[in-house]
Amino acid sequence: MPKLGVNIDHVATLREARKTYEPDPVEAARICEKAGCDSIVCHLREDRRHIKDADVAALRRMVKTRLNLEMSVSKDIVEIACKVGPEQATLVPERRQEVTTEGGLDVKKNLRTIASVVSRLKASNIDVSLFINPVKAQIDESVRAGAGIIELHTGEYANAKSESARRKELVVLKRAVEYALSRGVFEVNAGHGLNYENVKSVAMINGINELNIGHSIIARSIFCGLGTAIEEMLELIR
Ligand code: PXP
Repeated sequence: MPKLGVNIDHVATLREARKTYEPDPVEAARICEKAGCDSIVCHLREDRRHIKDADVAALRRMVKTRLNLEMSVSKDIVEIACKVGPEQATLVPERRQEVTTEGGLDVKKNLRTIASVVSRLKASNIDVSLFINPVKAQIDESVRAGAGIIELHTGEYANAKSESARRKELVVLKRAVEYALSRGVFEVNAGHGLNYENVKSVAMINGINELNIGHSIIARSIFCGLGTAIEEMLELIR
């Protein structure tokens, strides 16, 4: 059964809608852990649109499972990551105008930069994951970059417009997991756009280590509470 990482960015998005102190992402992380999640994920964006530096520091103090910091390869952010010391960093592409992370890293095009950030983070005892599209070339380059962990972008699967397109994307994901494990990647995670309707098929893919889910869980929590939203997601994954 895959683990569940909960991305709490959108708790901070709501807080920032009023530039106030509530809801508190740290309190959200406490509830997620109490409900049984396996890790807390947050993205310290270069524009600090939701999660702030102080949130990351407070999360570091409070998180008892694992803290997975999503981040770009920007120098300043890498410095912060090394100082804060999350258990894991997930490198993602970042564009200012995007609403959310829109695609995977182009590891092939940016191999030197990514490899050097991977080794810098690893030297600070941080496990590094690369968020990539489920294609062989990106898996090969991730291995070359020395990451050891990848997260497959499930956006194409989640956004498929028909059942047959969805099934096709599921096969793409399955093959990517198999290929990555055969290439010596030791953890294959997945995320983006997963929700209560589409998570089961991905959770059933052999070899998937962890699913990282944010928007759908935080959205549901408005109606049933965060603890219940986590428990319902865990039930589906199981
Ligand atoms: N994994 C990564 C690398 C992401 O960037 C995101 C979005 O922040 C997620 C998972 C979660 O995506 P969603 O909010 O669509 O569940």
